[in-house]
Amino acid sequence: MDTSAYLKSHIRTVPDWPAPGVQFRDITPLLQDPKVFRVLIDTFVHRYMDRDLRPDVVAGLDARGFIIGSVLAYELGVGFVPIRKKGKLPFTTVEETYELEYGSATVELHTDAVRPGDRVLLIDDLIATGGTMMAGKKLLEKLGAVVTEGAAIVALPELGGLDRLRASGLALNTLVT
Ligand code: PRP
Ligand code: HPA
Repeated sequence: MDTSAYLKSHIRTVPDWPAPGVQFRDITPLLQDPKVFRVLIDTFVHRYMDRDLRPDVVAGLDARGFIIGSVLAYELGVGFVPIRKKGKLPFTTVEETYELEYGSATVELHTDAVRPGDRVLLIDDLIATGGTMMAGKKLLEKLGAVVTEGAAIVALPELGGLDRLRASGLALNTLVT
């Protein structure tokens, strides 16, 4: 089995959650199995260890982007910064509001999280409409950082997020479709 199929076989689909009609792709089984979790992280590490792709900082999106982003940053030997849902970060922030597949949300980033010119890898568990990742990209760019790539375990292309993000100029790396 190739890596994508192996990871996919550990993602659970939960119907009608968190709202009727939503097929929720749940990555917790993938994290729970230590062998699969290692394959997941190593797949990202191999790509971003490359001299041309190695970021200065990894930025993780609330909340599942924290789980994979922090481990990846640790393995790469770079810092990790959290992009959080509004009201959670204590220092001064920049903020961005966006639409979700179900509802809307505002995310924040500490104003000293990145420096102008920093090359940042933005990471989350999943891209659906792309709204969350687009908001994260805008926050990082407000602070003058360069988002070198957007990474996620899962892409749901039928929701248009991949096209929308690519149209904004963001390079994407997703492992499972
Ligand atoms: C989910 C997922 C991504 C986002 C993807 O998070 O983890 O962050 O939605 O959707 P999008 O591409 O349409 O923006 P959610 O907002 O459910 O938050 P949580 O991680 O705190 O549960
Ligand atoms: N899984 C996890 N997060 C999500 C999903 C999903 O299926 N859809 C939108 N955000």
